[in-house]
Amino acid sequence: MITDKGAIHGEWAGKYAFFLAATGSAVGLGNLWKFPYVAGSSGGGSFILIYLLCLFLIGLPLMMAEIMLGRMGRQSPVNTLRRLAKVHGLSGSWKWLGVTGMLIAGLILSYYSVIGGWAFAYTVRAASGLFTGQTMDGVVSLFSRFASDPEHLLAWHTLFMLATVMVVSRGVKNGLELAVKWLMPALGIILIVLVVYAVKNADVNNAFAFLFHPDFSKITPDVVLTAMGHAFFTLSLGMGAIMVYGSYIGQRSSICGLSIAIILTDTLVAILAGLAIFPLVFSFQLEGVMIQSDPGLLFRIFPYVFGQMPAGTLMGTLFFILLSIAALTSAISLLEPAVAWLVETRGMTRPRASAWAGFSVWFLGLGSMLAFTGLTLRDMLTAVSVWLGHYDPGLENRFYDLSFFAMIDYLTAKFLLPVSGILIAIFSGWLLKAEVTRQELSLPDWAYHCWRTLVRYVAPTAIFIVLLNATGALMWLGRLINH
Ligand code: PHE
Repeated sequence: MITDKGAIHGEWAGKYAFFLAATGSAVGLGNLWKFPYVAGSSGGGSFILIYLLCLFLIGLPLMMAEIMLGRMGRQSPVNTLRRLAKVHGLSGSWKWLGVTGMLIAGLILSYYSVIGGWAFAYTVRAASGLFTGQTMDGVVSLFSRFASDPEHLLAWHTLFMLATVMVVSRGVKNGLELAVKWLMPALGIILIVLVVYAVKNADVNNAFAFLFHPDFSKITPDVVLTAMGHAFFTLSLGMGAIMVYGSYIGQRSSICGLSIAIILTDTLVAILAGLAIFPLVFSFQLEGVMIQSDPGLLFRIFPYVFGQMPAGTLMGTLFFILLSIAALTSAISLLEPAVAWLVETRGMTRPRASAWAGFSVWFLGLGSMLAFTGLTLRDMLTAVSVWLGHYDPGLENRFYDLSFFAMIDYLTAKFLLPVSGILIAIFSGWLLKAEVTRQELSLPDWAYHCWRTLVRYVAPTAIFIVLLNATGALMWLGRLINH
């Protein structure tokens, strides 16, 4: 039977190790940078309510499904899906879901690594006391000089990717597990120190009001899509990271209990990050700056904040170490599916597979890196077409105003992850037989029925409606029916 077989890549020492690794994957830049801003500006408490609904009605059943599939297949997502499809008499094309997952992971990691590189760079800058006494204009210009300097960006992007490759190449036990065992507790401690500092010294009331005051007037279809897309992104769902981690899990751990623990921890970290960041933002009256949200935000305002406050060098260094750790433990889970696949199908050694996968993603990351220096898709495509000898590629469409980074971010978080989510739900809820999933999840009857209802009906329908709604297709259908 499949489930008795161990993974060829190794296994976690126990369920705590898996919990740390999966939480390490889930807690990332999404929690520290995206969540606080998006929650505050998209309706506060009412956004958080929708987000929590998405986490538990869609995120939880899908996370359980991914871990379950991983543990049943015991291989990289591509081979897990291929194998399960074969054993259960389904079409071999399901392996493509694993292939697209791997590609999505590569796309996300390509820009994640660039931003992770910034976090590394800013740790060094903070520790060297560079921010002490800087004005707002000073730190903004520091950042723009940094972000428009391809050589610097390249060096840090490369360093971040090398760190990721190094951890992954050492394998499940000596690489991934060892890294999260030290890094995750460090992350927890640093976060608590920062929250205590912010709550003691800064404007907590306004921060609370901004983060939690419900404003239903701000809830639009796009906000709902944002909440759902973010639920996928923050839980690392829809692209195989959790599935591949699930394939290294021991047989006896409770998938449901672990998933709930991971989701609660991820949400707690996101909220704590909000409580560490916003009191400072309000104390220094930076709400105005906060509104223009982009990944550079934390790097533009925090050096100023840390430069002005007592013990700022220490707090600033801790803050950027926190960001670096969160980024690194997520990055390793983004590289792992491809590395496991290369080891299985190409017979490569782990270090070699990690190097190849890392290099490909590093190369793709150059696109996002250039995007952060200010280039749009139009600039890039024009350059390529000039290089190829065509001078007028005809790029009038406003779409080309987007940057390479914005395009990848939109495509992955708001489209590809939800669509893969629907397919994972169909595979585990409709195509695998009930007795198989019941045995694998080993839940009490009522809980199993809840899971199956959520994964068969609620999750796919909700994802589908939100996607239709956000693309305007639902309005169009409504008009069609009314005529
Ligand atoms: N969950 C991570 C975050 O919140 C991002 C991520 C997505 C990591 C997908 C792995 C896989 O930042």
